[in-house]
Amino acid sequence: MNRVYSVLITLAVSSACVLANADKVIIAHRGASGYLPEHTLAAYAMAYAMGADYLEPDLAVTKDGILICLHDMTLEATTDVATVFPDRARENGRWYAVDFTLAEIKQLTVVERSSRRFPQETRLFQIATLEELIQLTQGLNATTGRDVGIYPELKDPIFYERAGHAFSELLLEMLAKYGYTGPDANVYIQCFVPATLKRLRDELGADQPLVQLISDRSMQDALVTDEGLDEIAAYAQGIGPHKSRIEADPTLVERAHARGLVVHPYTFRADVVPDKYASMEDELRVFLSEYNIDGGFVDHTDIMKRVIDELE
Ligand code: G3P
Ligand code: CA
Repeated sequence: MNRVYSVLITLAVSSACVLANADKVIIAHRGASGYLPEHTLAAYAMAYAMGADYLEPDLAVTKDGILICLHDMTLEATTDVATVFPDRARENGRWYAVDFTLAEIKQLTVVERSSRRFPQETRLFQIATLEELIQLTQGLNATTGRDVGIYPELKDPIFYERAGHAFSELLLEMLAKYGYTGPDANVYIQCFVPATLKRLRDELGADQPLVQLISDRSMQDALVTDEGLDEIAAYAQGIGPHKSRIEADPTLVERAHARGLVVHPYTFRADVVPDKYASMEDELRVFLSEYNIDGGFVDHTDIMKRVIDELE
């Protein structure tokens, strides 16, 4: 895709975001992961019901090329894989999702990651596919009349490409199958790897809104400079910085806005609140009102919804 088309997409999405600025968006991070095991259909449904604007799946690829909703490359932290497939770990003692077919992955039950959250001994849920999440979202949109979007993350794209999977192409095919195409599609594709986003835009013809994630690691410092933001604005419609990036330099938000980029920091959690804030509500008020973010990734959708409603 040439630069002119990229700029047109940016303008189209930016104009939509002028409206969105009045409506801060709630991105349900791994679903309502503060309440139910992350990335399960139950967690996504709960976040939907709590008022999320977007449901966020991290993506992984199975051995047979199916996109599943999973944060880690490996399965042992959030499933019972060690019990079901005790002999399938690699030499490093870890069970990689890409080594299992979807049929095998569906034999697993999901285990809550955090000992502070949903009971870890309770085994009620399966790993969801991206397609199942989309069908859930679109089904709920049909029954409620709302228009909740999705916010998929291409996680570890280099790992999956080296494993022989066309990760980005698989995502674009699935999005097209369900109508998520064009600059107005109710989707943001997010990734930490600039080259993956640039390839989506320039080589694969992706015309959906893209978000450049920016970690707190020094290797991504260049992305928050003026030059870095200029470069991002040539292929993306937003940035998803670690919260600390904004706290360290609140001008990041206005500098991104000046380039037509929305700002969606990650991650707000009621049970992990930095000492400087009295509560998650307090933290959110600072980010929404003082820093003027456009939305954020949140484990507790209901709390962010309440804070936003109070601010209006
Ligand atoms: O995608 C934004 C945020 O979720 C990035 O962190 O590790 O939770 O995917 P992570
Ligand atoms: Ca993510």
